[in-house]
Formats: sequence, structure tokens, C-alpha cells
Amino acid sequence: MQIKISASILSADSTQLGNEIKKVEQAGVDLIHIDVMDGHFVPNITMGPFIVEGIKKITKVPLDIHLMIENPDKYVESFTQKTEENDILTFHIEATNDPLGVINLIKGQGLKAGVAINPDTHERTVEKLLESIDMLLVMTVYPGFSGQAFKQYVCKKIKKLREIAPKNLDIEVDGGIKPETISDAASAGANVFAAATSIFAKENYKEAIEALRKKAQENSYLFVKH
Ligand code: DX5
Ligand code: ZN
Repeated sequence: MQIKISASILSADSTQLGNEIKKVEQAGVDLIHIDVMDGHFVPNITMGPFIVEGIKKITKVPLDIHLMIENPDKYVESFTQKTEENDILTFHIEATNDPLGVINLIKGQGLKAGVAINPDTHERTVEKLLESIDMLLVMTVYPGFSGQAFKQYVCKKIKKLREIAPKNLDIEVDGGIKPETISDAASAGANVFAAATSIFAKENYKEAIEALRKKAQENSYLFVKH
């Protein structure tokens, strides 16, 4: 398990998407985070399978696809046409009554499966799934928009989940992650960090990514004795 930075393209310049992705790739990012919103599960509409296919053609960086959509089971296949085994497809626990079914569907398509949990959803809803997933995504804002403030109270939940999770499970946080907030998320137990504003609003993406990585490493749960 390592520290990974995932660049959320929601704040990239959409007229320059290809260049923006190349720039974060050259800047050493570990994952490209793609926020898929349907206007139902969240009050915003963003990208879909067509954009994912396009991105797949221009980068070797694994994709971290965050589905914020209702009925994720119906759309799994449309997202897995061009993806590969290192790409992760994550759906929300609040969006389905059959999470294990969706996980199996994703894995059956040869991808890694992730489950996301909203700030106010109890950890018990995902506890039984931890053995079956490749990544847990803990939201530190209400999903829908970039640029919101990090919700500090979620760190308690991250800590609880890290304590019961299988040893090598990746735990991602998403929302309001910047050098000032990443330390708390890292010391609570997160090791994958999605960030939009704190990368794409900066002049120098390499410096921005390195600043996040450094703070996360210094404060990582992995290096602190418990
Ligand atoms: C919010 C998205 C996030 C968002 C993060 O619903 O899931 O990935 O882009 O944006 P920042 O880093 O600006 O909070
Ligand atoms: Zn996201």
C-alpha cells in the first residue's frame, strides 16, 4: 500500500482536457479521477463513458472512475468497454440495494471495484464489503461539486474503517483535499487522495502534486505506531 495522488479533472480546463491530462501525467500523478454525475444522485451533470473512452486513448495513467449515479449496475458495462485491469470503477453505497452484485459485475469485467460512502452515511453500511473491494472511497464533502470545504468530522469514520479494513486496502478521500487538510485524512488512515482545485487551480501542477504527496507522507497512518 502506497500514497497515491489522484487528479480530479472536474476542475481541469475542459477545452484543453487532453493537454491537462498530459500535464498531470508528466507531473507524476498516480491516478486520473473522473467524476461521473447523472443529475439524479447528485445535483450536477458531468461526464460519461464517451469521455472515459477518449481519455483512455491518450494516457497510460490508471483511471479512478467515481460514479455518482443511480442504478450503477445498469451502466457498468458502458464504462468497461475500453478500460483495463488497473482502472478502478467506484459506485456509491447509497445508490444501490445490491452492492455485492455491482462489485461482482465490475470484477467480472476485469476491473478493480471500489465503493464510495457519503459524509453522513454510517460505516456499518460498508463494513461487510471491505473484504470484497479493491478500494474504499470516503467522501469528505457532499458529492456534486469541486471547490467545497473538507469535512473534518469524517476523519473519525476513516479511522474506524482503517482499523477494521484488510491490511492492504486502498482508502481514498475525496473533497477539499489540499496541503492544509491532507494531513488529517492521512493520519486517520487514507492513502489515496483525490484533488481537483488544489491541483488544477495552481500554476505548477508538479509542485502542487508534490506538496500534497509530501504532507500525506509525513503524516501517514502507515508510518505512525498504533
Ligand atoms: C465531488 C467530486 C470530487 C471533486 C473534488 O463530488 O467527487 O472529486 O472534484 O474537488 P476538490 O478537490 O476541489 O474538492
Ligand atoms: Zn470524485
